[in-house]
Amino acid sequence: MSIAELLPAVARAAQIVGHDCEVQLLPEEAAALGRVAEPRKREFAAGRICARRALRALGRPAVAIPIGAHREPVWPQGVVGSITHCPGYCAAAVAPERDLAAVGIDGEPHERLPDDVLGEIASRAELAALDALPRGSVHWGRVLFSAKESMYKAWFPLTFKWLDFTDVSVTVDSSDGTFHGRLLEPAIAGTAPTRFDGRFVVRAGLVLTAVAVARSGPLVPAAPGR
Ligand SMILES: CC(C)(COP(=O)(O)OP(=O)(O)OC[C@H]1O[C@@H](n2cnc3c(N)ncnc32)[C@H](O)[C@@H]1OP(=O)(O)O)[C@@H](O)C(=O)NCCC(=O)NCCS
Repeated sequence: MSIAELLPAVARAAQIVGHDCEVQLLPEEAAALGRVAEPRKREFAAGRICARRALRALGRPAVAIPIGAHREPVWPQGVVGSITHCPGYCAAAVAPERDLAAVGIDGEPHERLPDDVLGEIASRAELAALDALPRGSVHWGRVLFSAKESMYKAWFPLTFKWLDFTDVSVTVDSSDGTFHGRLLEPAIAGTAPTRFDGRFVVRAGLVLTAVAVARSGPLVPAAPGR
């Protein structure tokens, strides 16, 4: 199971599944992070390790990834990317800026999303659409939540604007593992896209989602197993 499966072929990803890694931060990153609790240090470090592996896979130098003013990772010039971590999982994805305008990834434990959280992140229409999805073992509320987080991570570097969970409407297509988000107030996007398409997978106790925004033309999916 790899988040790379959810990304177009022009992207590269790296992930760490299941175990803690050593804290290996570059001095600039350690300084930016400051004094934080050990678990935070570990998740941050895991993200940076994945980010550097992904940059190397892209043929780029494995440089420091500083922290932006809104906590966003600051990628080297010419690169777009995204980082996610949750207990037992961490990943980073990158792509050349000439190919993708933005990428957003998210990993979540595949657990039922608490009803109060679902009520805050989903509209009535979205709740009704989730109810119509095949009943079975998938926690669709968690998939929706993760899809919106991926979308936000792709949206933010394009606009540097906050986007609330209720600012977008996302439909999840269980038949092909895709989701489609649209801004309810398209004007807030300015020149940024108002629609975002993504892919998801539920496997090995995790929900993984990814959004890629093409520069132009259709995105070619990655080959299976990459
Ligand atoms: C920022 C946010 C999306 C992070 O998601 P999360 O599930 O809490 O945590 P994840 O581990 O998946 O992702 C954390 C990583 O996201 C990245 N991130 C943080 N802020 C970001 C931003 N503004 N833009 C892009 N990426 C960001 C960072 O790399 C961070 O890891 P790091 O701090 O170790 O570098 C979430 O905390 C948040 O603020 N959500 C509210 C906004 C939102 O999702 N709206 C939905 C609109 S549809």
